[in-house]
Amino acid sequence: MQIVIRRYQPSDREAVERVFREGIEEHINPAFMYAMTRPLHITVSLFMYIGAYVMGGQSVVLALMSGGAWIGLVYFCCHEFYAGYVRARLNTDMQDIPGYYLSNPDNCFWVAEAEMNGRPQILGMVAVEGKNDPGSDGKKYGEVYRMIVSSSCRRAGLGKRLAKTAEDFCRERGFSKIELSTSSTQTAAVALYFKLGFKLILVHTRSETLQWIVWMTRATILTMEKNI
Ligand SMILES: CC(C)(COP(=O)(O)OP(=O)(O)OC[C@H]1O[C@@H](n2cnc3c(N)ncnc32)[C@H](O)[C@@H]1OP(=O)(O)O)[C@@H](O)C(=O)NCCC(=O)NCCS
Repeated sequence: MQIVIRRYQPSDREAVERVFREGIEEHINPAFMYAMTRPLHITVSLFMYIGAYVMGGQSVVLALMSGGAWIGLVYFCCHEFYAGYVRARLNTDMQDIPGYYLSNPDNCFWVAEAEMNGRPQILGMVAVEGKNDPGSDGKKYGEVYRMIVSSSCRRAGLGKRLAKTAEDFCRERGFSKIELSTSSTQTAAVALYFKLGFKLILVHTRSETLQWIVWMTRATILTMEKNI
């Protein structure tokens, strides 16, 4: 299968939104599994079950409701962490990709496309936004966003090709470095970025999502960079 990486066109919008949504929301269940196996959530879940059982006069129903409510809250937070991110992005940069990424020479948005069953299919995407780098004598750096490969064609080198496209663009624009952020539960992405020479520069929990929701997921945000 021959995969071509090209600039985004307005006719890609629907497919790009679908691949983006699927690529981010697939992390909800792994994030929930991760959160529920942390000592904090195991302890609180047991406390909710046993506490409600004892205090509710040995009521199994109350115990199940209490423990279930806590587990449901953890799932809600993991869902909101990723689905909320998708919602926010679809209402900001992804709402007008030509306006946001293609009308400024320091920004770009690419898609990976291949012919499948006689029809063109969008299989991946990546974007770059040029930003001012305060510590670099007026030089700019590129922030990489929207790195997604469709689940149907992973581990075939497309992620690496998309990253190289973004990196080549940053080099051509004369940027000093590339920066990106991802979450600790996006393990494939973290492995890809380390393989490509990115270094971890910051681990934090600040995001556009409410702070208590991030805390409940037990995930962290990783900021990584690569000098070019
Ligand atoms: C991250 C992602 C883009 C990687 O795309 P890909 O096309 O599968 O990546 P590649 O085939 O180019 O992999 C390159 C290297 O990354 C690493 N890697 C990729 N996926 C991996 C995985 N699941 N587990 C471990 N390492 C992985 C490997 O080192 C791999 O090299 P190798 O195959 O020679 O071992 C893809 O998994 C994806 O879209 N994930 C969901 C969306 C997402 O989380 N995006 C990141 C947003 S910040």
